[in-house]
Amino acid sequence: MAREAGDIACEIGYTPLYIARDQIELDAWAFPAEAIIETEVPRYDDIPFVIGIGENAIRQKLAQRYANKISFLSLIHPSATFGRGQRKAAEERQGVIVCAGARFTNNIQIGNFCIFNQNATIAHDVVVEDFVHVAPGSVISGNVHIGLRSWIGAGAVINQGTESMKLSIGADTVIGSGAVVLKNCEANSVYAGVPARRIK
Ligand SMILES: CC(C)(COP(=O)(O)OP(=O)(O)OC[C@H]1O[C@@H](n2cnc3c(N)ncnc32)[C@H](O)[C@@H]1OP(=O)(O)O)[C@@H](O)C(=O)NCCC(=O)NCCS
Repeated sequence: MAREAGDIACEIGYTPLYIARDQIELDAWAFPAEAIIETEVPRYDDIPFVIGIGENAIRQKLAQRYANKISFLSLIHPSATFGRGQRKAAEERQGVIVCAGARFTNNIQIGNFCIFNQNATIAHDVVVEDFVHVAPGSVISGNVHIGLRSWIGAGAVINQGTESMKLSIGADTVIGSGAVVLKNCEANSVYAGVPARRIK
């Protein structure tokens, strides 16, 4: 995910600097781009960062570790498309990553440090809480609420809720790849299949 985030940064004119967790990871860094060790991060308080880590809980832990020490920008691939005002709203969040081909329609609330992977589609009146990951090709229909740290698997479809009652995906819930969600999903659970059923 970090390398993918770096590619988006390049697309929009930045020169990415990658962070290795420790000296061992730095020594093993074979990607043709500059990297530093994590302990050096506080010295770079004049450049903006994103956390290119797909795992929601780890992304949250790092966001908390560096809160008020460094600044976070939102990285948005130029091929992503947005309804009126939505691009600006996404840009104003902290640490959001929007990958190539993602589509956002209208009146969507995006949390901080969310990842919208390639070709994800987010429809009208959706609320996405902080630290959510929407995997490639998934479709979030209108009037859906996605809870804190939830993971929507690749190619999953979340059916629409209504204006008065959004379809709700609880916090810390994982929706399996290819699932079709028709009803609310409880928090701290795993759902999979068509139609999606709770498996854990
Ligand atoms: C749903 C998921 C989280 C379950 O992972 P897990 O907790 O490790 O569960 P297991 O692999 O032990 O599978 C448990 C059962 O669910 C089934 N299952 C797992 N994933 C499934 C899926 N996506 N759709 C339907 N059934 C699934 C397994 O076949 C197994 O069934 P069984 O008990 O009858 O053998 C995982 O398979 C998944 O889909 N993750 C999302 C992957 C993804 O989107 N990656 C994108 C990367 S950007």
